[in-house]
Amino acid sequence: MTAVPAVPVPVSIPALATPSVWPASAVLAPDGDVAVAGVPLMDVAERYGTPAYVLDEGEVRARARAWRRALPDADVVYAAKAFLSRAVVDWIAEEGLGLGVCSAVELELAASRGFPADRIVLHGDAKSPQDLATALRLGVGRVVIESPCEIARLASRVPGPEAQQVMVRVSPGAAAGGHRALRGGGEGRPFGMSVATGDAEDAVARILGQPRLQLVGVHTFLGSQITAPEPYVRGVRRVVAFLARIRERFGVTLPEVDLGGGFAVAYLPGDPAPTPAAYGRRIQDALVRCCAEFDLPVPRLTVEPGRSVVGPAGVALYRVLAVWRSAGGCTFVAVDGGVGDNPRPALYGARYSVRLIGRASAAPTRATTVVGRHCEAGDVLAEGAELPEDVRPGDVLAVPASGAYHVSMASGYDMTGRPPVVAVSGARSRLLVRREGFDDHRARDVGL
Ligand SMILES: Cc1ncc(COP(=O)(O)O)c(C=O)c1O
Repeated sequence: MTAVPAVPVPVSIPALATPSVWPASAVLAPDGDVAVAGVPLMDVAERYGTPAYVLDEGEVRARARAWRRALPDADVVYAAKAFLSRAVVDWIAEEGLGLGVCSAVELELAASRGFPADRIVLHGDAKSPQDLATALRLGVGRVVIESPCEIARLASRVPGPEAQQVMVRVSPGAAAGGHRALRGGGEGRPFGMSVATGDAEDAVARILGQPRLQLVGVHTFLGSQITAPEPYVRGVRRVVAFLARIRERFGVTLPEVDLGGGFAVAYLPGDPAPTPAAYGRRIQDALVRCCAEFDLPVPRLTVEPGRSVVGPAGVALYRVLAVWRSAGGCTFVAVDGGVGDNPRPALYGARYSVRLIGRASAAPTRATTVVGRHCEAGDVLAEGAELPEDVRPGDVLAVPASGAYHVSMASGYDMTGRPPVVAVSGARSRLLVRREGFDDHRARDVGL
């Protein structure tokens, strides 16, 4: 008889699906558990409770480095909106990326860790007076002007004598992205000033007329979850044509172009997710080619990946609370989180793969609808998830590719409390952000 090995032999999850939706460090043990960065996910569930978000530090760092390698002459700015915590600020600083922020609090958080202010870009289609004041006080490297209203508002606050470096955000008429709500750079979208109507050119004229503002470049954001390099190539062509138009009309050659983020990650096995190198090569080639065509010097490029850096590094863990079959024959599995910690399925129709962890099941799988606990018809985390037929209350489910736009978009719905974020690295786990509980709600509820 063959001896059963005492120590489980891990099987690499990436071998099961290409491209994988799991962090590269993920391994599958014969007992059904999955370990990320050497930490069994069931240990995380037991120690920190569920729902919980696990973030593989090594994966975040490797992805940040991959972007820098892909575009060695460009500035790579991590979009904080995907997920930010003090540890993430440190990782991003150590990997040499810049930071793209959208609020005064994100700015303060970065400053509290000593993140170099000149590597920070402030965005936002409607920046508050506090956002602008904080950016100017901390001395951020770039403020992206996104509407005509911001020009005088910002200029009047710059203390001087140095001018604030700014970029002008344009809508080049080249929208892309995985869902209508994720499309940015097209006409009729509320982001950036239109090149087609002349609004972008008018804004340039007004910025150039402000001595306290120094216009250094053009910014655009085409959309999110863009699954191929081609939309960027089209975006580059339009932005370079706009640079040529600015030179022609104002005699100014702007030295920078920021193409924003939007680079896709795989949520389901087999989803297209080009590597940073694949995007980078096409973008850089297009930039050089288009500049040659318009006889312009090649501007310094910035890209702002958010999802692509943290998305695949995150795994959400939920505990099953209820299982039932509907009259229509549909199997529902209800978990202890939902739209409160992950609004993406409700907002964008986002899809996920879901895995039972913590025990091996020999039961056949069936298409299952995983729903949240919020008594909302739209609180569906995953439809058609292939889960074993014997899934039962108490089981733990893991949802990979959960690192971006989950915790940062989580709400206080039903006062269930936003989940903790746990970093894993070198076979150890550590709490980055603790679970929100009654004391937090009580502390904010200051009136009677
Ligand atoms: C200006 C800007 N830059 C970067 C990003 C990051 O996008 P992604 O996470 O899809 O890379 C966003 C997302 O909305 C954005 O608005």
